[in-house]
Formats: sequence, C-alpha cells, structure tokens
Amino acid sequence: MKIKHVFDNNKKWIEKKLKSDKDYFKKLSKHQKPGILYIGCSDSRVTAEELMGAQPGEVFVHRNIANMVSSTDLSAMSVINYAVCHLKVKHIVVCGHYYCGGINAAMQPADMGILNPWLRNIRDVYRLHKDKLDKIENSELKNKRLAELNVQEQCINIIKTSEVQKAYKERSLRVHGWVFDIRSGRIIDLKINFERILKNIMEIYRII
Ligand code: CO
Repeated sequence: MKIKHVFDNNKKWIEKKLKSDKDYFKKLSKHQKPGILYIGCSDSRVTAEELMGAQPGEVFVHRNIANMVSSTDLSAMSVINYAVCHLKVKHIVVCGHYYCGGINAAMQPADMGILNPWLRNIRDVYRLHKDKLDKIENSELKNKRLAELNVQEQCINIIKTSEVQKAYKERSLRVHGWVFDIRSGRIIDLKINFERILKNIMEIYRII
C-alpha cells in the first residue's frame, strides 16, 4: 500500500461518513463508550475492527505479536486497567489466529534477538501443554492448537489481574477466547470453560 493511497482513502472515508451524518465527527469527538476490549495479534491480515464489522467507538483495541498478555508489559497492563476501570467494558476478548508468525517462530529453535524474551512467553505455554501438543503429529495442526492454547493462557493471565478480579465480582465482566481462521475468514469462539480451569488455580492467583 502506498502512503499516497492512505490520504486519498481517508478523504473518501470522511466524505462517506459525512454523507450519512453531517455531525458524525462532531459526535465522535465527544466521548468513547466501547463495550469490548479486544486484544489481538499485530498481524496485518487480522484487522480487528474490519473482521468484527465494528465502527469507530465500539471496540478498544490492543495488538502485539501473538496477542500476549504479560504482567510485565506496561502497555498491555495499562490498556486492561483503563478499559476495565475507566471505560468499564463489558467484555474482554483475546483473539488469536491460525498461521500466526509469532506462534511459528516460538516453535523454531532460532535466536531471534529482542524477540527472544517475547517469544519465550509462548514457549512457556508450549511447556504447560507439552503432553497434549506432542501427541499431534501434523505440524500445521500442532501450530493451530498452540495458537488456541495460547489464547486460553492469555485469557487466564487477564483473570490474574486485580482489576479484572474486582470487575468479575462487582459487575458482569466476561472474558472470551477466540481464534480467527485466516483460511475461512471465520471467528471461532473457543468457548473456554473458565470456571473449570480456574477452579484449581484461583487459590494461587486470587489477589482480592
Ligand atoms: Co499472529
């Protein structure tokens, strides 16, 4: 995509929005009240708002390589804090995707420089679920399953934060794990059973 096209497209987009509502941008500038916090991969093929059909103002978005939620990542932690405590979102979504370069890289024995500590978070997910993953012989299926399990673990990381634990008790905040299948364009709800998963580990992670 050429930079010039960005500005041409932007101009057309403004015209389209103003055609349907002449006060569109005036209203948009007043406030935001998104119902969803979306945490996804930076992958250029997984365009958060477009694949959900979301309009400006509807989704608060955080993206990084392989949709990770690390407790030492000030950016991710700040996004969660702001979305939960100030915007009061009703849903937090972690959306991974199949054919993820981050997941692939974490499964290769290679020195990736500054990416090493980032990818190690994914390798830790692999270690946690090694028994199940090593039973899958097909490497494509193995990658896809690791992408799903990574989503599950990042959802659990979200539930480890005090903000989310408080919001769980005080209001109906819900966490969802999804994967986007690039081959079909479908969003798949992994329907993660958090009650079951958290039953045994919450005695360790409960902080409120
Ligand atoms: Co990815």
